[in-house]
Amino acid sequence: MPPPPLIDRFGRPHTSLRLSVTDRCNIRCLYCMPAADVQFVPRAELLTFEEIHRVVRVAAGLGICKVRVTGGEPLVRHGLPQLIRNLDQIDQLTDLALTTNGLLLAEQAESLRQAGLRRLNISLDTLEEATFEKISLRPGLDRVLEGIFAARRAGFDEIRLNALALHGLNEKDIVPLGQFARQHQLELRFIEFMPLDAAGQWHSGQVLYGATVRRRLEKAFGPLLPCPRKDPSQPAVDYQFADGKGQIGFICSVSEPFCDRCNRLRLTAEGQIRNCLFGNAEWDARTLLRGGADDWQLADLFRSAVAAKKAGHGIDTEDFVRPQRAMYQIGG
Ligand code: 5AD
Ligand code: SF4
Repeated sequence: MPPPPLIDRFGRPHTSLRLSVTDRCNIRCLYCMPAADVQFVPRAELLTFEEIHRVVRVAAGLGICKVRVTGGEPLVRHGLPQLIRNLDQIDQLTDLALTTNGLLLAEQAESLRQAGLRRLNISLDTLEEATFEKISLRPGLDRVLEGIFAARRAGFDEIRLNALALHGLNEKDIVPLGQFARQHQLELRFIEFMPLDAAGQWHSGQVLYGATVRRRLEKAFGPLLPCPRKDPSQPAVDYQFADGKGQIGFICSVSEPFCDRCNRLRLTAEGQIRNCLFGNAEWDARTLLRGGADDWQLADLFRSAVAAKKAGHGIDTEDFVRPQRAMYQIGG
C-alpha cells in the first residue's frame, strides 16, 4: 500500500520540493544576500549529491512530484548536471526545474539540457548594466543575456524570466522587460519583494506591488487578459497581452498571499527540511542521513514537517516576525 500523502492540518497536499544545492552565489542581490562578509555553510555540511538524491527519492515516495533546484546560485555547485541526471531518473518526478541568475548558463545550458532538465527560471530585473550592478553589486548583465540565448539554443522547452521590481531602482525597467519578453517570446513574471533580505532592511515602501506593475504594462502594451490557472497551487496569476504576443505573470506574495494553496516544502543546502519560507523551524535530515537512519525515519521527518505547518505568513500584519535566515540561506 502506498504511504499516506503529505497533507497538513489545513488539508493542503504537499507535492512540491524546493531544493537548495548551495548557499553560495557569484553576485550579491540586495534583496537576498549581505553586501559583504557572507558566512557560507562549510562544504562538509552541504548534503552530497548522493544524500540529496536519497532525500528526494524518499520525498517522491510520499507524493512529491515537482522539484525545483535553487540556491544560492545552483550553477556554482560543481558538477550539477550529474545531480540533475540522477534526479531525472526518479520515476515519480513529473517536473524537474531550476532557478538561476543566468551568469554561468552560457557554459552550462547544453550539459544541463542533456542531463534531462527541461524548465528554467532565469532572474532578470533590468536590461541596463548600471542598474544590474546597483541591484547585484557585481557586473554581468551581458553574461546573463548570453545565458538566456544559450538556453534557448540548447532546446529548453520552457524558459521563464523572473523580475523583482523595487521602488526607485528598476521601475523604469518594467516596460523594457515586457518588451524584451515579447520580442523573444519568453514568459515573464514579476515577483514582489519579500522580507528575506539579509540586511533586514525590507519595508513595505520598497515593494512595487503586482497591481502597480500591471498597470504600467497595460499603459504601454494595452489590456492584459487574465489566463485560467494552469495549476491550482501555482503562486503566479498569469495574463496574456490582448494582441496575443506573450504572457506575463505576477507573484504577489506580499499583497495577495497564496498560503492557503501552498503545496511546498524546502530542503536547505545543509539538509534541513523547512515547511515555510517564513518559518524558523527546521527538521534535520542531514543528521538522520549521516547517522544511519532508514528511509522510514526520513519519511517520518517529512511527515512531521508537514504536520507542523502553520496556516500562513502574514507579512503585512502586525505580529509578523521576520525569519532568521535570508533568502540565499533557505532557497529562492
Ligand atoms: N523577495 C522575493 N523574491 C526573492 N528572490 C530572492 N530574494 C527575494 C526576496 N527577498 C527571488 C528572486 C530571484 C530568485 C532566485 O529568488 O526572484 O530571481
Ligand atoms: Fe544570488 Fe539569487 Fe540571491 Fe541574487 S537572488 S544573490 S542571484 S542567490
